[in-house]
Amino acid sequence: DTLDPTSLRTPIVAVLGHVDHGKTSLLDKIRGSAVIEGEAGAITQHIGATAVPLDVISTIAGDLVDPDDFDLPGLLFIDTPGHHSFTTLRSRGGALADIAILVVDVNDGFQPQTLEALDILKRSQTPFIVAANKIDTVPGWNANEDSPINATYDAQSDRVTGRLDESLYEIIGNLSDEGFSADLYWRVQNFQRNVGVVPVSAMTGEGVPDLLAVMMGLSQRYMKAEMEIDVAGPGVGTVLEVKEEKGFGTTIDTVLYDGTVRADDEIVIGGQNDPIVTEVRALLQPRPLAEIRTESRFEKVEEVSAAAGIKVAAPDLEDAMAGAPVRVVRDRDLEEVVREVEAE
Ligand code: GTP
Ligand code: MG
Repeated sequence: DTLDPTSLRTPIVAVLGHVDHGKTSLLDKIRGSAVIEGEAGAITQHIGATAVPLDVISTIAGDLVDPDDFDLPGLLFIDTPGHHSFTTLRSRGGALADIAILVVDVNDGFQPQTLEALDILKRSQTPFIVAANKIDTVPGWNANEDSPINATYDAQSDRVTGRLDESLYEIIGNLSDEGFSADLYWRVQNFQRNVGVVPVSAMTGEGVPDLLAVMMGLSQRYMKAEMEIDVAGPGVGTVLEVKEEKGFGTTIDTVLYDGTVRADDEIVIGGQNDPIVTEVRALLQPRPLAEIRTESRFEKVEEVSAAAGIKVAAPDLEDAMAGAPVRVVRDRDLEEVVREVEAE
């Protein structure tokens, strides 16, 4: 219906969890790229945003995701660092998210930043699922690359599944201690009331089809109303990072969660002192499936609609701050937009 300006935006999925539990590896597996190898010490130091379109999700998830069942365009994943010193980055990722994946290493179980992430999710009331990662490290595991979980479960010995179940029930117990009623995802009926636990391996891809199917299903079922946005409306987003970019000067990596931003828009950004009022010089979009923080070949675009990770080049961005709001002015009253940015 071309008369209807509303459209469904991509849900934003934050990936949270303790250091080394496999957040980046999991996204890597989904992306089929190797961001992890480009990272300093394989520790994620910055938030990144990765858009995964529905057709890619459906290819990875196979029979578990029929694209005809969904009208959401895909999922936008935000990777966050697990190292204890990056609390503000985690809060920022958590606050932006519509839904989240809490990654827990099945062997390591609950750790300090697992609990911290749970607190962030509790405070922001973000629905989430738990990815019980590294199932391939259970002694005696017989790996079945990229298999859905039930098929690979059936291919393990009783001893192996017994050990895995023990670890999974420990995680379910830990969640219950924190006030969350949780169960293995295939037993969960209502994902708003109960937390689903999905056994996965970022290394072998086992369980990844299930993880994507559950995220897609959860979004479609419970988030759809919230995903309805006025696509043509003035864009609203959050600064993830302020970065120097060769040939563009200071730029802001932004997650756009509402409306549209255009290459000639006037924008207001939260600054270290006063809000910055400036004009977009270029919108630089990472290719689909590319990672905004390691992708150097950006495509210049005329317009971007939520949700998306977008690099914005503009004059006077030196005082912009990570975590600050970004708002497009367009036909709105500038003073009013400035007041909104000040108030955020
Ligand atoms: P931070 O960003 O530092 O918080 O860590 P992270 O959660 O992103 O962990 P990362 O993906 O960097 O993985 C940490 C280590 O665990 C790497 O050596 C990975 O290869 C390994 N790893 C991750 N997932 C799996 C898995 O499913 N199985 C196995 N065997 N190893 C894994
Ligand atoms: Mg990481």
